[in-house]
Amino acid sequence: MTFVKAALAQLVEQHFRKVKVPSSNLGGGSKHMKYKNLFVTGGAGFIGNHFIRYFLKKYPDFEIINLDKLTYSGNLANLSDVKKDKELLKRYKFVRGDIADQKRVESVFKKYKPDYMVNFAAETHVDRSIHVGAKEFIDTNVYGVFVLLEAIKKFGIQRAVFVSTDEVYGSLSIGSKNKFTENTQFQPNVPYSATKAGGDLLCRAYHFTWKLPLVVTHCSNNYGEYQYPEKLIPFFTLRASENKNLPLYGDGKNVRDWIYVLDHVRGVELALLKGKPGEVYNFGADNEVQNIEIARLILNMLGKSENLLTFVADRPGHDRRYAVDSRKARQELGWKPKYSFKKMLPKTVKWYLDNKKWVRDVQKKTGVINAHIDLWKPHNLK
Ligand SMILES: NC(=O)c1ccc[n+]([C@@H]2O[C@H](COP(=O)([O-])OP(=O)(O)OC[C@H]3O[C@@H](n4cnc5c(N)ncnc54)[C@H](O)[C@@H]3O)[C@@H](O)[C@H]2O)c1
Repeated sequence: MTFVKAALAQLVEQHFRKVKVPSSNLGGGSKHMKYKNLFVTGGAGFIGNHFIRYFLKKYPDFEIINLDKLTYSGNLANLSDVKKDKELLKRYKFVRGDIADQKRVESVFKKYKPDYMVNFAAETHVDRSIHVGAKEFIDTNVYGVFVLLEAIKKFGIQRAVFVSTDEVYGSLSIGSKNKFTENTQFQPNVPYSATKAGGDLLCRAYHFTWKLPLVVTHCSNNYGEYQYPEKLIPFFTLRASENKNLPLYGDGKNVRDWIYVLDHVRGVELALLKGKPGEVYNFGADNEVQNIEIARLILNMLGKSENLLTFVADRPGHDRRYAVDSRKARQELGWKPKYSFKKMLPKTVKWYLDNKKWVRDVQKKTGVINAHIDLWKPHNLK
């Protein structure tokens, strides 16, 4: 009788939870009992929204709880297609909140008992960390990470990925063949990267001290749809489309290793599925491009004159070159970038031109973008 009751209860549970056999190789939990819970933080931002959409579609045995403070760069419109998709929506929950708010974070752990976590929540704009101030960066990128780690220590988790940046490694010189490996010493040069490094080091310490199952990832510069337009590619695209000048710091020859956002998302996915606790993985696309080249490509695509290129005084602490060695992720996670810059840059540029309402709403909500640049006088290169 007890056996029949238990079998019936399981059938009912399966019916209501629409249980599928897990398609992932994530361990733990009974295969047929319920959805696995993935706690995502900062999922209303640029990379987080891509990750949520991708993960919900690929893993029907998962539900996602997205905790986001909705700062100026957080935007629920980034996930409006998920909200319109009934199949995805039933496995997606949004909670507004701050990762630095212990009560809020603990309430998510108590209510949803997450099996897995990915932290995207961060203050992310280097310029702001210099011109607006570093406090919010410390609050979120260091103290917020501490609050998440304490919650993981208290409630447990099967695996958590903390998403970080290649900028923690500092700067490389142009002309050298050096790239950042996972063993490169942290040498952050601006408050943004210093606070990210602080959060990363806390993860290291919490893994070694309490054996928490944490993985940290360091990715190079991302581009793609839904990026808040303070960042270089949408910023230049929108300015060029309005015939405004494109302000280039210094000589414009600073180099970044540009990666399409979905390649980064696939890296985070693999770090969650296959990453070894306590390990660090770098992601980069071997695609080093100077800022001035990007500006020229965008002007070209829009049929605008190169007269719009304007050199402005360099940013304090401006790192010269980033380049990422991602051999470890390729070998251990089976990751490799699959999107080409040549194809995805024009697609990305077109997306910002086609999505005028998204752009207008962002501008209306957050006001002038990168206001500090307009205050700076153009200068001539010697
Ligand atoms: N964009 C890149 O090129 C890039 C490259 C490498 C690594 N990263 C890292 O990836 C992560 C995501 O970056 P992004 O480009 O999507 O950033 P973003 O600025 O677009 O989004 C950040 C999100 O975090 C939310 N948030 C900020 N503070 C919060 C807090 N205290 N509590 C809860 N939510 C908060 C914001 O509302 C926003 O939705 C960051 O950790 C960043 O350091 C970004």
